[in-house]
Formats: sequence, structure tokens, C-alpha cells
Amino acid sequence: MSQSVSLTVLGIESSCDETAVAVVRRDASGTRVLSNLIHSQVVKHAVYGGVVPEIAARAHVETIDSLCALALQAAEATGDFTPGDLDAVAATAGPGLIGGVMVGLSFAKGYALARGLPLIPVNHLEGHALSARLTGDVAFPFLLLLVSGGHCQLLAVKGVGDYERMGTTIDDAAGEAFDKIAKVLGLGYPGGPALEACARDGDAARFVLPRALLGRKDCDFSFSGLKTAAAKIAHEQVKTEQDRADLCACVQAAITRQLVERSQRAMDLFKTQNAVTDPAFVVAGGVAANGAVRQALTDLSARKGFVFHAPPLQYCTDNGAMIALAGLEHYQQLRATGQAAHLTLAESMATLARPRWPLDPGRAEADPVHKTAGRKGAKA
Ligand code: KG4
Ligand code: ZN
Repeated sequence: MSQSVSLTVLGIESSCDETAVAVVRRDASGTRVLSNLIHSQVVKHAVYGGVVPEIAARAHVETIDSLCALALQAAEATGDFTPGDLDAVAATAGPGLIGGVMVGLSFAKGYALARGLPLIPVNHLEGHALSARLTGDVAFPFLLLLVSGGHCQLLAVKGVGDYERMGTTIDDAAGEAFDKIAKVLGLGYPGGPALEACARDGDAARFVLPRALLGRKDCDFSFSGLKTAAAKIAHEQVKTEQDRADLCACVQAAITRQLVERSQRAMDLFKTQNAVTDPAFVVAGGVAANGAVRQALTDLSARKGFVFHAPPLQYCTDNGAMIALAGLEHYQQLRATGQAAHLTLAESMATLARPRWPLDPGRAEADPVHKTAGRKGAKA
């Protein structure tokens, strides 16, 4: 797609426990993040051992206004931007905690309305899916492993708005497993980084943990059996610091092994379905911060002939830049196909927040294990 036209987009993210605002520009010289501010609510939720939706929504309300002003100021400080340069506003419209999504989306509507700009609703998962394109030259199609606290999916990313879900979790997300097991072990919240630190001195061969969905040939994930087994060992056998470190090392190894096994299957499938030389394998989401996971996926990519990409950490976890970029890529596509005029004010204002919003709705509908609604539905 032509990059000769300059596009500048404001991106707003509020689907979980981070309020985030960014300004991203794409022009002939490439893609540039002009500002990217994140206000984490982790301190507010830590005392409860997890994200409390009501507290999250209220905290977004308190923060969004001033954070947006600061993000615009930071972009102006580059000397290359004024708010009048904005072409569109992009905001996460789902999936996520509905109260938080509504706060960010409503704020974005107000800002877009006041400035007469189009509003682009963005799927949070799409933000993660495209995040590697913020800093790297990652061409379509590529294979994506999205591993965060709320999501665990393998996706063939074929183009903007064109995603094929190859695998998903049938229960918990990988980050959720890290967090819940860390909580049982008294490691605090968020558990992923704490569990990784504790695992450093542990023996990864000490405890035997279950291997989920063994024998199945698909690319789906399951972590609830591992969580239950780890909790049982924690209660019965963890008495010393060394026991705790050993269990952490075993849990980290088990999660890593499952991510590697499913990614390997998806790579084989991806190669038979897409004739690409040197295809890219992208890992995004908070769990991509884990050193053991990153190293194992780097090695796997090298073995299978994929070029490994992981966005820099600030774009791996929830952020506004990835939402701005996803909005920008959609807007660019709409302009290229002459459809940008359809983004009317009435349409922008009618956009609804969605707690569930699969990237590949056909696949989610077709597979009854992953229904898109109801308590048993997968979160994405
Ligand atoms: O992408 P993210 O910031 O938020 C969403 O869930 O969308 O991901 C947060 C998740 C948490 O579950 C956190 O424990 C996990 O990523 N995480 C890690 C590490 N750093 C963050 N898990 C394992 N090891 C880490 N170093
Ligand atoms: Zn996320």
C-alpha cells in the first residue's frame, strides 16, 4: 500500500488496567511513534490480587483526560506535531472489561466530535496483532502468537482486518495461568514477572506437571489442569524457598513447552497454507516479556525457518501506540479504497463498546468450544 500520504492518528486504550494514549504517524519515511504514555493501575489492584473491573473503570475516568493532554504535549515536544495534524482518533472498542472500554471509547467520541475527526473503533486483539509493525518491517502474511493475561491465540495475520484464528485457549490464558499460580505461591500481583524471577534459582525437572490436550492435533491451549496441579503441589510439598523456586521453574517450563508445541504445529500448517519465503513469526502480549518463553520461541523459529519478531516491551504489553497503528492501518485502507467518507459522524457516535469481539468471527461461531458469548465462552 502506498505510504506517500502522511497520516497521524491518536490512539486510546482502556480495556484492562492500563490507561494509555499515543500519537502515531506514518509517512514516506515510515512509521513513527510521536508519543506513547501509559498510566498503570497496578498499585490499585495489587491489594486484591487481580484486576477489579469497577476500580479499573473509575481509574480510567480519573486519568484519561489529563493523560491525553500529556500525550498530545509530548508529541508536540518532538517539534514535528500540532494537534491540528491529527487525521483520526482510534480507540479500543473491545474485547475487554466493559466499563473501562466504555470510558476510553466515550472519551474518544467526545474528542473526535469536538475536533471534527473520524473515529476508528479498534479491536484490542488487532492492536496486539499489528504491534510488530510499529517498529519492524513485518510483511503480511505472518504468524502471530498472542500471549497476554486475557488472551492466548495463534493467528494467521493475512492483512489488515483479515485474520484466521488457528488456535485459542479453551480455558485460561497463559498470563492468567502465570498470575493465578503466582498468587497461590504468595508471589503477589502481577504474577508473571514475579514467577519468572523466582524460577531463576529453581530446578525445572523436580515436579511432574500435566501436559494438556496431549494427542490432539489442533493448535488449541489449555492451562487449567496445570493450574490445579501446581496448586496441589504448592499446598502439599512447598515448604521452603527452594521448593517454591523449583515449582516456579517447573510451571514456567510447562507453560513454555505448551506454547512451543502449539506454535510448532501452527508453523507447519501456516507453511502449507501460505507460500511465503522466510515467513515471520511474531510473539506479542505481556507474556512475551518472559525470557524463557522468548528464548524457546526464538530457537523454534530458527529451527522451523521463520524470522522471529517480538515488539519492544513497551509495545508488547497494553499500550496506545498499537491501537493508534491499527486505526491508522484501517484508515489508510479505507482511504485507498475510497471508503473513508463512510466514516460519518453519525456512524462514529453510534459505535458500541463490546466485551467480546473475536478477530475471526467465522471460526469462533463454527467451533462450539469457543462460543463468543456466555460464561463459558473464550474471552476473545
Ligand atoms: O498484554 P498485557 O499487558 O495485558 C493483557 O493481559 O492484555 O499482559 C499482562 C500479562 C499478565 O498476565 C502478566 O503476568 C504477564 O502478562 N507477564 C508475564 C511477564 N510479564 C508480564 N508473564 C510471564 N513472565 C513475565 N516476565
Ligand atoms: Zn492486551
